[in-house]
Amino acid sequence: MKTVVLANQKGGVGKSAVGCQMAYYFALTREKRVLVLDFDHQRNTSKALRTGGIATVSAVTSSQILLSKLPTVEAADFVVIPGDGELIKMEKKAAEHNAFASRLLAFLQSVDDQFDICIIDTNPNPDIRQLASLVVADFVLSPLQLNQEAIDGIGDLLNHENIGIRKIQATINKKLVLLGILPNLVEPTPFQRDNFRDLSKAFPKLLIPMSPGFAAIKKTTAIPEAQAAGLPVWKLGKTSARDAWAHIKPVFDKIADTMEVK
Ligand SMILES: Nc1ncnc2c1ncn2[C@@H]1O[C@H](COP(=O)(O)OP(=O)(O)OP(=O)(O)O)[C@@H](O)[C@H]1O
Ligand SMILES: [Mg+2]
Repeated sequence: MKTVVLANQKGGVGKSAVGCQMAYYFALTREKRVLVLDFDHQRNTSKALRTGGIATVSAVTSSQILLSKLPTVEAADFVVIPGDGELIKMEKKAAEHNAFASRLLAFLQSVDDQFDICIIDTNPNPDIRQLASLVVADFVLSPLQLNQEAIDGIGDLLNHENIGIRKIQATINKKLVLLGILPNLVEPTPFQRDNFRDLSKAFPKLLIPMSPGFAAIKKTTAIPEAQAAGLPVWKLGKTSARDAWAHIKPVFDKIADTMEVK
């Protein structure tokens, strides 16, 4: 099983939407066994996946993964472990932070044969939930919006003292691979085009190469509509959604190739 975490301390950049759509992509188009772990107490991912009824919603909730010893996950090919209200309390339990990461790791090892890919959605706070996820993951994907504030935040994303990806790669999780920064909600405005150009000059190695240029997901009504309906974008049955999927699918193909999900 390969584990990928969606992480960015910026809110509203598409971590949950990209994570859900990627889960559908792996489960339904590549026929992989998919586990989704929602570590965000906002529970956007849990809600979207529950609404659609395509994934099995586990009776285990994600705080239990951190708090208890190896909960058993339902035998199904596409399972979401929903977030819960306890998650917000995890940060205050500082004495248990090491145990949280150890339990998460042990849990993922315990379901290693049960799933092909685990997708972890995180909250936008730089806390133990994000840290524990980055400590155990094989890959991290960081959706980002093309505004100056978000681009300025890349330094933090990489070098934040607790949860900076480079810090974690250099210390506690040497196997962690940054799949890349994924510009999302991209609009064809001169402002965003300039920001994308500046970003690709400043951080070419952080972007995901695709021909032509770099991977990105355009702003499209299909994504919020799909999320609200709890459906994969390609199942919305609208021309706008088919157009959206035509540009999103190659991005997920590229990510799947890089992750070599078997
Ligand atoms: N490419 C896109 N085009 C249009 N809307 C999008 C796109 N990607 C995400 N959205 C919408 O933007 C909003 C924010 O996305 P999402 O909730 O996935 O962000 P997030 O990073 O998970 O936020 P948070 O940090 O609060 O968890 C949602 O309404 C989502 O449906
Ligand atoms: Mg989210």
